[in-house]
Formats: sequence, structure tokens, C-alpha cells
Amino acid sequence: PIKRMWGGRFEEAGDQLVNQFNASINFDQEMAAEDIEGSLAHVKMLKETKILSAADADKITAGLEKLRERLTSEGLPFSIDNEDIHMNIEALLTEEIGPVAGKLHTGRSRNDQVATDLHLYVKKRLPIIIRELKKLQGELVDKAEANVETIMPGYTHMQHAQPISYGHYLMAYFQMFQRDVERFEFNQQHTDLSPLGAAALAGTTFPIDRQLSAKYLGFTEPYHNSLDAVSDRDFALEFLSNASILMMHLSRLCEELIYWCSYEFGYLELADSYSTGSSIMPQKKNPDMAELIRGKAGRVYGDLFGLLTTMKGLPLAYNKDMQEDKEGLFDAIKTVLPSIKIMTGMIATLQVNKDAMEHATHHDFSNATELADYLATKGIPFRKAHEIVGELVLKGLKTGTNLVDIPLEEYQKISPKINEDVYTVLQPKVAVERRNSYGGTGFEQVRQQIKIAKDILKSD
Ligand code: ARG
Repeated sequence: PIKRMWGGRFEEAGDQLVNQFNASINFDQEMAAEDIEGSLAHVKMLKETKILSAADADKITAGLEKLRERLTSEGLPFSIDNEDIHMNIEALLTEEIGPVAGKLHTGRSRNDQVATDLHLYVKKRLPIIIRELKKLQGELVDKAEANVETIMPGYTHMQHAQPISYGHYLMAYFQMFQRDVERFEFNQQHTDLSPLGAAALAGTTFPIDRQLSAKYLGFTEPYHNSLDAVSDRDFALEFLSNASILMMHLSRLCEELIYWCSYEFGYLELADSYSTGSSIMPQKKNPDMAELIRGKAGRVYGDLFGLLTTMKGLPLAYNKDMQEDKEGLFDAIKTVLPSIKIMTGMIATLQVNKDAMEHATHHDFSNATELADYLATKGIPFRKAHEIVGELVLKGLKTGTNLVDIPLEEYQKISPKINEDVYTVLQPKVAVERRNSYGGTGFEQVRQQIKIAKDILKSD
């Protein structure tokens, strides 16, 4: 036999490159704490069910606790010779307590062990992500509250469409992040299951108690099918797809931050602390944080597609391909968390140039719908009104004038029912305020949205 934990039936050892290629310790040591935690629950169950004697179980428990302590105080010396985190921990446990350590692996396999570690890893981090998202939502609500009456052009096709409240715009992102929160909350349901005790694939002949070890680990219940337990990575895929959607939201917000901080727009200014300079152009203040978040969205999509592709052809149950599940998942978690935090800081410190925003609505035709609606209320069919206003816009474009510049006599040629109040209706602020249909940009509606949002944030 060769000197490996599984070396009994082997006569030849793999070469160095094979061993390196096979090993996952370089990245799965990230789950060291979870691996120890899983083993502590397993041995506690083995003791409770009398599969191990109390004396043996206590020795193993004490050894694992020692390792846990060493891990946090000085770190553990992992070795590539022990392949992965599971065998490294077992080898270190053997150094601590001797051959009795070998009894820990009774009634389990690395297949259910690795799945358990990964569930614990994600389960622990989901609430952190949700908490950070809620902080971001809180900042959006605060900014929205300060900008209910800040008027800006609303865009479709990147063309001025109708004036809107900047607070309304910010609350749209609140809603997007709320759906992200709900998706991650749902993700927790599929993560909150224990694979432990599924063993290699088929369960075990030992009288283990999977409900008990699940309970010790804080999982709601064990997986109901052992094959599914060891081969399911849906919870990780769900995480990655939720993370991808979240990054897409962050990226869209970044895109607008970047544009709106440009000279041409000038609607916003990022705080110095969230900007960077240029090594050659002294005047530059670049929105690098927003660009990085936008860029990192692509990286998280890559993590999702990596795992989807890895899983797509895998027969049941465990296959070594699945060792590839970790790096992308860890990467996505480590990308998403700072992205949310940095976005929170950017929003909190953002300068809003209310005048520039409002100014942009005064020299455009984004009040054209207002005029068409006004004519419709005077009895002109909306289709006809649309055509009339279209012609006025064309004329205005040719002569460099706006709808407010048209004298009343001209308007009265269209319809004698038109009077002075048409100029009030054409004011962008009035146009926004009057859009009081449910969920619209009218100030009253935006205030209502903010109130509901605050209740949502308060409720947890
Ligand atoms: N390092 C492995 C992984 O990450 C652990 C499970 C190995 N199981 C096996 N039968 N080779 O997936």
C-alpha cells in the first residue's frame, strides 16, 4: 500500500503533478471551520447513538475543539499530501489524539462531508449578504426622502421621455434590491438541509441518527434521499444566480452613476473617497468604484456559468468534477459582499446637483405628453392631440423654441378652450407632481413608497 489515507489498494503513487492536480486543499481550506463543525456534530451523534463509546467520542471531541482553537489563534499547517480539507483535518486530529481519530469517519464519507461543509459555508454567509443589502436599501430610502421633489428627465431609449422625481428613480432600485433580498432568503431554504449521514451515496449500515446531527448543525432537516444529498449543488447554483441578478442590478446603477457624473450630464458627483485620479491628467476624478462593480458583474456571471456547465453532464452521485464547485462560489461571495458595501458608501456620500437635473428638463420636449393630455381633457381625441403636439414639437425644433414659448393666441388657434393654465401644466415640476396614479412619480406616491419601504426595513 502507498502512504495515503486511501492507499490500501494502491501499489503505485501518482507523480507530483497528479497529486497537485488532484488536491483541493489550496482552496477548500476556506471551509476549515465548517469541516471541524461538521465533525463535532457527527461525533456527538455517534456518541448519542452509542455507535462510539463515550470515552472515544470525548477524546475525538476534545481533539477537534483543540484544532478549532488552533485554527482561530494561529492557523493550521495544511499539507498538499493530505489532498483536501477533510483529510488534512483528520491527519491533524490523528497528530493530536492518536489512532482513535480514525473512528471519526464511522458512518460517513467525504462525499456527504464536503456537501455538509459547503452547506454550512453558504448558510452562514447568506444572512451577512442580506444584512448588507438592507443597509444599501436604507441609504437609498434616505437619499430618496431627500429628493422627492428633485426633478430630472426620465429616459426611455436614453432619450428624454417625461420628467420624474429623482426620489422615484432611487426607489426603483430599492424595489430591485428587495427582490434580491427575497431571493437570498428563499435560497436559505434549500441551503438549510443536512447531507450528513448520506455517506458515500447510499446511506450506511450503522444506526446513525441524521435528524440529530442535522439538529446539532442547526439545519432544519436532513436531505430525504442520500443520492440527492451528495450530488445536489442547487443551493450553490441558486446562490450564484441570485448573486448574478444582484450584480446586474448593481451594474445598471453603476452605469447611470458613471454617466451622470460626466461633464455632459453633471447630475451627480461622487465623493472623493469613492473616486480615483489619473497618473497623467491632473484634473481627473474617475468613478473607478462604479466601473469595477460593473466589471465584476461579468466575473460573477462567469462563476455561475462555470458551475452550471460543470454540473450539466454529471451522472449520480458524486463525481470528482464537483470539486470544481468551490472556487467560483467563494469568489462570488467575496465579490458580492464588497460590491454591496461600496455601493452603500457611494450612495450615502453622493452629491446630487438638483439644479443641473431640473435644468435638463426645461429645455427639452419632455412636457409634450403633458400638452397632449391637456388637449385631450379639452375634448380633442388623444390621437389627434398627439399629432398636433408632434407638429408643434417639429416647429419648435426648427425654430429653437419650446412649448412654453408658444403664445396663447397660437394655442387658441388649435382650440379656443385652451387658456393660461396650459403654462402651469407644462412646468416639469407640475408634470411630476400630477402623476399621482398608484406607483407613479407624483410626490405623494413617492412619499407613500418611502413609507412602505421604511416599514419593510423596520420589520426585521
Ligand atoms: N475534495 C473533494 C471535493 O471537494 C471531497 C470529496 C472527495 N470524495 C471523493 N470520493 N473523492 O469534492
